[in-house]
Amino acid sequence: MKALVLSGGSGTRMRPLTHTSAKQLVPVANQPVLFYALEGIAEAEVTEVCVIVGDTEQEIRAAVGDGSRWGLDVTYIRQDRPLGLAHAVATARPWLGSDDFVMYLGDNFLLGGIAEQARQFRASRPDAQIMLAQVADPRAFGVATLDEAGRVTALEEKPDSPKSDLALVGVYFFSPAIHEAVAAIRPSARGELEITDALQRLIEDGADVRSSIVSGYWKDTGNAMDMLEVNRLVLDRIASRCDGAVDAHSEIVGRVVIAEGATVRGSRVVGPAVIGPGTTVTGSYVGPFTSIAENCSISGSEIEYSIVLPGAIIDGVRRIEASVIGRNVEIVPTTRAPHAHRLLLGDHSKVQIPS
Ligand code: TTP
Repeated sequence: MKALVLSGGSGTRMRPLTHTSAKQLVPVANQPVLFYALEGIAEAEVTEVCVIVGDTEQEIRAAVGDGSRWGLDVTYIRQDRPLGLAHAVATARPWLGSDDFVMYLGDNFLLGGIAEQARQFRASRPDAQIMLAQVADPRAFGVATLDEAGRVTALEEKPDSPKSDLALVGVYFFSPAIHEAVAAIRPSARGELEITDALQRLIEDGADVRSSIVSGYWKDTGNAMDMLEVNRLVLDRIASRCDGAVDAHSEIVGRVVIAEGATVRGSRVVGPAVIGPGTTVTGSYVGPFTSIAENCSISGSEIEYSIVLPGAIIDGVRRIEASVIGRNVEIVPTTRAPHAHRLLLGDHSKVQIPS
């Protein structure tokens, strides 16, 4: 079995971070969300991986490399435009050949991996096997209807009146039968070749499409709030480690990772939290569920339940919560009156300030 990892797309819901970088590389507990997918693929004993890339190709290549870090053999294929998940399958068809494959959306996060589902697929070898999760509001997802035996009888993309609460998770197991179905479908109303349409086609042609319900946590990390939630979950499972320097005037409470080259001075860090390499935290409070990436500087500030990307400077800010701070962002005090907010924000930035 091969793996097809989708890391193209435009990431409109993660703007402005995705104006300048790939959404699959937004860090969760200081590791890109895409790396968790690659770990899951390696655990499922799949080694041949093709990563579909778009405009952010260079950045994805630089981060993932040849995949040897995970014992994977990674190839890249460029998709000129994000014309849909089924379009990505069609683009990779020459590479996929007549092999079975698992398609993994590079922005999806699955706690618990895919090893068990891969085992099931290899053992029973249906035409396709999808993963489903119960969600409160299925209207934003692909939604499946099942018969009593758990076979999939219908699939709908983002239905107005969903027939079940079972949403399609972004990991699919396919036999080569999917290629004919992909070739037979036309673009949807939003102009994309939908994988749900290809699956629906398979079902209508009498193919064996099975499903499994994910037991662990799953999230499509589409927007900033989703990222914060996934970050919380991953941090909840970390073990304490201190490879950096913490002075005698600091207090570290709970599970905290302080990376090599990080410095904590006169501060209180309450875990679970991670402080990245080369970052300094001075005279500050870092609260639970916070990931601070490498080479940041936090001084005279309080921050909690947030993700801070590399190179950010936060100085003299009373309290930051539920925030995602981009690369090399500076949040610093004004030096003279009036005490107004002075902002230089990129397109689609969002700032909430107490009035
Ligand atoms: P989506 O979240 O469906 O699309 P998107 O990345 O364009 O995001 P947004 O809705 O915020 O604009 O994509 C799921 C994953 O698949 C994501 O990792 C991007 C990838 N993808 C491709 O590689 N090619 C494609 O044609 C599409 C639509 C998505």
